[in-house]
Amino acid sequence: MGHSRILPRRGAGAAHWEQMNTVLPLVERAVPPLELPAPAREGLTRTPFGLYVHVPFCATRCGYCDFNTYTSDELGPGANRSEYAGTVVAELRRAAETLGPDLPTVSTVFVGGGTPTLLPAADLSAVLDEVRRLFPVAPDVEVTTEANPETVDRDYLARLREAGFTRVSLGMQSAAEHVLAVLDRRHTPGRAVQAAHDARAAGFEHVNLDLIYGTPGESDADWAASLDAVLASPVDHVSAYALIVEDGTRLARRIARGELPMPDDDVLADRYEQADATLRSAGFQWYEVSNWATSDAARCRHNELYWANANWWGVGPGAHSHVGGLRWWNVKHPAAYADRLAAGSSPHADAELLADDDRALETVMLGLRLRDGLPLTALSDLGRVRAADAVSRGLLAEEAYRRGLAVLTDKGRLLADAVVRDLTD
Ligand SMILES: C[S@@+](CC[C@H](N)C(=O)[O-])C[C@H]1O[C@@H](n2cnc3c(N)ncnc32)[C@H](O)[C@@H]1O
Ligand code: SF4
Repeated sequence: MGHSRILPRRGAGAAHWEQMNTVLPLVERAVPPLELPAPAREGLTRTPFGLYVHVPFCATRCGYCDFNTYTSDELGPGANRSEYAGTVVAELRRAAETLGPDLPTVSTVFVGGGTPTLLPAADLSAVLDEVRRLFPVAPDVEVTTEANPETVDRDYLARLREAGFTRVSLGMQSAAEHVLAVLDRRHTPGRAVQAAHDARAAGFEHVNLDLIYGTPGESDADWAASLDAVLASPVDHVSAYALIVEDGTRLARRIARGELPMPDDDVLADRYEQADATLRSAGFQWYEVSNWATSDAARCRHNELYWANANWWGVGPGAHSHVGGLRWWNVKHPAAYADRLAAGSSPHADAELLADDDRALETVMLGLRLRDGLPLTALSDLGRVRAADAVSRGLLAEEAYRRGLAVLTDKGRLLADAVVRDLTD
């Protein structure tokens, strides 16, 4: 009973739907300029709108990670960290031109990676200034950055807070030193907790810690210690993800060679239950299968926007966007991305207009994982029959079902992927 996640992955903003575009084309084929067809434009100013900014740089690559990110050695010529903020600004300007003249109001901004906090605070702040210059921005806009604990201190975080960032998401992963070592993380166990304190001291009300469970060698006690460390930190949000062994990663090769065991599905289920029980007893409540918050105000609104299948523009190499059923994704390599923008062309690699059926399916796949639930009317006739069966098997909540909603029970959350498959087949 795996917990493998459906797309988009790892709520924390990931380079969304990246898995669909993992192959770098050998020959750049000509793509027409990006235009929003009339059906995609419809509802543009009425639908929640977010901006995702991908920062594709990391100091070193963690053995389990297949995100679109590059170390200095991997980057090659033509892409340069110090010029990156300027390149992002160039795409933001194209975004405003393409979406205009009636621009949607930005309700969330999420800077993810890679490691956004490898850039100077002044660069992240310049990007945010440009967003404000180009777009109408909601007065209560949520502005998140992901951060690796070892890359930030109180001063850096204070500068981000001053620039208008409202939320920090820190990649802690584990409090056990030997687990961090298997994951190739560079921070010590205490560093993430310290960074959470630094973020609070810098004035951030919303702080998240990301955890990974099921790493080879992790014991029940290690996982309990990680959860305890999180609860001893001043955070209002926790994301906990099962370790996914991605093809082509160093971790996958080590497992294939027999150096490390594959994460065990039963252990993953136990860890999930342990996380939910521990977090619940400390006042956190799940609102998406892998995400817990201390209150509704502490939820990540940017991720909620993805899960509601709303509109967002993803800026940066490999970033994916979705506006009114039109989906597109950018060229993956930072050099190719920068070249396109420098030449005055759109950096998108390809685009597709989703059929109504595909959109409906995505809405179901995403909505079923939310505590707020999915209206049963969003399901097909067969899906509704299967939902009734899932209620009788204790996988969907009976009380919510009577109110016309599909909401996973505790048992259902453990089998979320199977329930989603069953209801969407
Ligand atoms: C891609 S990272 C970007 C932010 C930052 N660089 C970091 O590592 O925290 C976002 C989250 O995805 C998690 N992640 C990446 N690959 C994963 C995998 N194979 N299985 C589970 N979580 C993964 C990371 O550990 C991190 O918490
Ligand atoms: S630091 Fe984050 S983005 Fe970079 S390689 Fe590690 S998990 Fe991936």
